[in-house]
Amino acid sequence: MTNSMEGMQRSCYCGQVSALDLDRVVTLTGWTHRRRDHGGVIFIDLRDREGLVQIVVDPVAIGQTLFQVAETIRNEYVLAVIGKVRRRPDGSANPNLKTGEIEVLASDLRIFSQAKTPPFYIEDDVVVDENIRMKYRYLDLRRPRLYQGLALRSRVNQSIRGYFSSHEFLEVETPTLINSTPEGARDFLVPSRLHEGEFYALPQSPQIYKQILMVSGIDRYFQIAHCFRDEDLRADRQPEFTQLDMEMSFVEQGDVMQMVEGMILTVFKECLGISLPEPFPRMTWQEAMERFGSDKPDTRFDLEIVEVGDIIAATEFQAFTSVLAKGGRVKGINAKGCAGFSRREIDDLTKLAAVYGAKGLAYITIQEDGSYKSPIAKFMTEEQMEALVARMEGKAGDILFFVADTFDVMCAALGHLRLRLGEILGLIDENQFHFLWVVEFPQFEYSAEQKRYVAMHHPFTMPMDEDLDKLDTDPGNMRAKAYDIVLNGVEVGGGSIRIHQSNVQERMFQALGLTPEECRSKFGYLLDAFEYGVPPHGGLAIGIDRLVMLMLKRDSIRDVIAFPKTQSAMDLMCGAPSVVEKQQLDELHIAVKLTKKE
Ligand code: AMO
Ligand code: AMP
Repeated sequence: MTNSMEGMQRSCYCGQVSALDLDRVVTLTGWTHRRRDHGGVIFIDLRDREGLVQIVVDPVAIGQTLFQVAETIRNEYVLAVIGKVRRRPDGSANPNLKTGEIEVLASDLRIFSQAKTPPFYIEDDVVVDENIRMKYRYLDLRRPRLYQGLALRSRVNQSIRGYFSSHEFLEVETPTLINSTPEGARDFLVPSRLHEGEFYALPQSPQIYKQILMVSGIDRYFQIAHCFRDEDLRADRQPEFTQLDMEMSFVEQGDVMQMVEGMILTVFKECLGISLPEPFPRMTWQEAMERFGSDKPDTRFDLEIVEVGDIIAATEFQAFTSVLAKGGRVKGINAKGCAGFSRREIDDLTKLAAVYGAKGLAYITIQEDGSYKSPIAKFMTEEQMEALVARMEGKAGDILFFVADTFDVMCAALGHLRLRLGEILGLIDENQFHFLWVVEFPQFEYSAEQKRYVAMHHPFTMPMDEDLDKLDTDPGNMRAKAYDIVLNGVEVGGGSIRIHQSNVQERMFQALGLTPEECRSKFGYLLDAFEYGVPPHGGLAIGIDRLVMLMLKRDSIRDVIAFPKTQSAMDLMCGAPSVVEKQQLDELHIAVKLTKKE
């Protein structure tokens, strides 16, 4: 028996056969999802990327020879079937299946390949250890939820390309083997064979190239670009990820934001059929931090953070007043209706706040009779307590939490507490898409580790006009022409207007602690290019993995990446990273120095 494709060209996908095809003869191909023997008749659920259809193999219709072939079929065998579409007998329709009304009575059948029993069922709702799924990613990808991720991602890419092409953007590819630059995360390095002892780096983003494309007069650029960052992984971070990267010349911040917003609206309309409300709200970084304790606030729920420093200042509560005296801040959050939290629940929230550096979590419980229970009551007069509760809009049944610390720690602790309370209180509507622009980011943040200022976005970001003069005198208080786009509490994109004057760029590098020699060796080519006429320019990059993850309401970007890395940055399917032949290392002039025993 042949197992070539001859005479078995598919007429439609399994998942697309419907009652409209009644009495039509169809040719279907796919994988055996399940095979059941029903006393002389065999039922096969045949599956392809679009879904399942039930095949009936009856010896009367197909003949004894092929019936015997059908008896050998096991799960995941790959088949072709020719047959007539008929309505399922009364009472046997399956309303849970798209093709549940019909079945296909086989008149011909071919096995293309056999299959071992897979290590897990090819179903969406089976619980499988993620490492097993990653090792057998090809089986994992047969599951509908994984296919859905790839299918949506493909549509999103098409939609992005369509949008930018219709707005006069040029899709330009930039190199993958580039020069290492000290920007943000750690670089992945690639040793050079031809240049002994020298290395390429994989790009963390196409940032410098796209700016140089603006110097080249390209005017409007976009690219769906692979980026590489050697950083610790989380649910929304991969060492290798994809950006929609774009840059425009002769623009201001508002122009870039409007262009990107238009793209997001188009993508949601074309790929999900959703018309998002526009324009997206905008908020300064300062306001986001003050109200939500985060520069990427989840605005699907309120539960805002409230200033109480002025009330605390007058109290005898040393632990808090001393923080204020040192320039720190005290704020609170009202957990509505949570006065019944147990000791244990309060301890858990205290531990959560501690993860972000808080030295404690003070609270006031407002009991049903209106009286207060609080470990900090003893430090305050009754009037001060009343004022505090009134400021927090506390009502009987509420519990108020407070954190006193530096601005950063207070925000981080209360911001995360807010998110946890949002979950506990069921305040988050999973069906909402809340976009938000966060603008006026600080130019720098102080790195305690490096004991110097580092760029909050990147070193090419233009300061706000009114803050430019602070570059050499007061960098800690400079704001940048930088903007992030946030969706449901996740940073999906970020960008900025760039510095386009080489003297400002040089001052920026100096403020970041780079010596003139380091500037030359790392960014000399950019500074050189800037000597030859630079248009004002700016752009942004969207994390496509994150965007698609959120569009599908998934918790992990691994769900929307065909071949992702595990938490420990491995590809368990192909076994990367791996030890290589000594000869390969020799050619690269590399000696490996192991620090731990294998
Ligand atoms: P930024 O570093 O903010 O900006 O990156 C832009 C967006 O890329 C996504 N992203 C990631 N996604 C998955 N895994 C990662 N490890 C990861 N790191 C970042 C995020 C982020 O918002 N060159 C600038 C852009 C510009 O200024 O135009 C840049 O790369 O969604
Ligand atoms: P103490 O008098 O030190 O036991 O503190 C009283 C309460 O204030 C305890 O519930 C502590 O958790 C809390 N607390 C102390 N310091 C801080 C702080 N910096 N921020 C928030 N709560 C604090």
